[in-house]
Amino acid sequence: MQTKNNLMVKVNHPLKNHNTFGLDSTAGGYLRLSSEGQLESLPELIASYDDFLILGGGSNVLLPDFYDGLVVHVDIQRLSHRMSGKDVLVNVGGGVNWHQLVSWAVENGFGGIENLALIPGRSGAAPIQNIGAYGVEFKDVFICLRAFNLETGKFEVYDREECQLAYRDSIFKNELKGKVIITDMWLRLSGRDHQFNLSYGGLKSHLEKKKIGHPEIEDIFQSVIEIRMSKLPDPAELGNAGSFFKNPVLPSRKAEALLNEYPEMPHYVLDDQNIKIPAGWLIEQCGFKGKYSGKVGCYEKQALVLINRGGAGAVDLVTHAGSVQKKVEDKFGILLEPEVNIIHPHLYDQVLKM
Ligand code: FAD
Ligand code: EPU
Repeated sequence: MQTKNNLMVKVNHPLKNHNTFGLDSTAGGYLRLSSEGQLESLPELIASYDDFLILGGGSNVLLPDFYDGLVVHVDIQRLSHRMSGKDVLVNVGGGVNWHQLVSWAVENGFGGIENLALIPGRSGAAPIQNIGAYGVEFKDVFICLRAFNLETGKFEVYDREECQLAYRDSIFKNELKGKVIITDMWLRLSGRDHQFNLSYGGLKSHLEKKKIGHPEIEDIFQSVIEIRMSKLPDPAELGNAGSFFKNPVLPSRKAEALLNEYPEMPHYVLDDQNIKIPAGWLIEQCGFKGKYSGKVGCYEKQALVLINRGGAGAVDLVTHAGSVQKKVEDKFGILLEPEVNIIHPHLYDQVLKM
């Protein structure tokens, strides 16, 4: 342990328990950020390292074996709410576990995020890729967030429009990547007259199977958990980071040409110009589902989820992802884009060139 700029930094800190791939990674420096008071000295501390990484629950990152920089682990815990008519305005700290937030909302009868149950990670990362599942996206309940700008050393507030939340995307993955630390945010939930989202076919049929005609918040929450547990691996048992790639969105004309060739291809019409294709289907068609090469492979119940069966390193996972990406491109002419944040400047490019 070292004290630098009044901040306690752990040296050569193991990150195995800080990433859901279960990679045996080590951080050159590691700081647990548990209070806003620590932020003032942070820019100076960061300046003394070649590189730095903001880390939440580590459920959407692929870490290198050794991270030669400072890892700032956001662990700011805060949760409060107030009623505003039939709405509930919730203030949540960046370090609050997302599923615990959802569970708290459900227990209190607050609606809006029940479809987002069981997504791993911390609340502060939810806006980064605008987390989404079962018909609901984070942006549906988001009001604004507060972030500490590491370049100016000041707090800033970003509203919905400024965050540019889109499918698995936001300003924090682009212009503001690595420039701000999200400390807390405000969400708008419903206190009564809830509007449930049952647009996701699998959720509707699951509720029907359970003979639930008029679901309550709790029914949707439980059903989402059941569906997720039936097809997604538990990171505590099998290392993974959820979907490794984004679902590609194709111009309608390209998607229609593919549909002529593969009429059974599942697809979702987004508007009259764009069609989304499930990457899991493309990967399964290329023969990867349930297939492993050594320690890594594609999960047998969901081909889009890359698995570390234990002992894999970043290069093993990236190499496997590269093979998947190449085969899908050769067969379908679609270049899959990683959803997972690959934390190694040039690792992906290097492996793909091998
Ligand atoms: P991390 O992995 O720690 O970080 C992700 C990125 O956000 C990094 O670039 C990091 O630098 C940045 N970051 C994190 N915290 C902050 C902060 N406070 N300020 C600024 N930058 C920050 N995602 C979905 O959208 N839908 C799903 O259904 C879903 N299912 C999943 C299922 C499983 C089994 C797993 C393992 C993952 C799943 N994910 C899903 C992906 C993941 O859970 C989400 O992306 C989650 O929001 C990541 O949170 P985290 O705290 O673990 O972020
Ligand atoms: N499919 C296959 N084979 C597979 C997997 C999927 O053919 O191995 C096809 C099936 O037709 C299935 C369709 O793909 O009906 C969609 O699959 P699923 O419902 O499992 O959803 P997904 O599109 O693969 C997306 C998100 C998930 C989110 C679910 C539920 C992305 C990249 N992934 O997956 O998010 O939980 O929808 O809404 O958008 C994550 O981001 O990490 C994640 C898990």
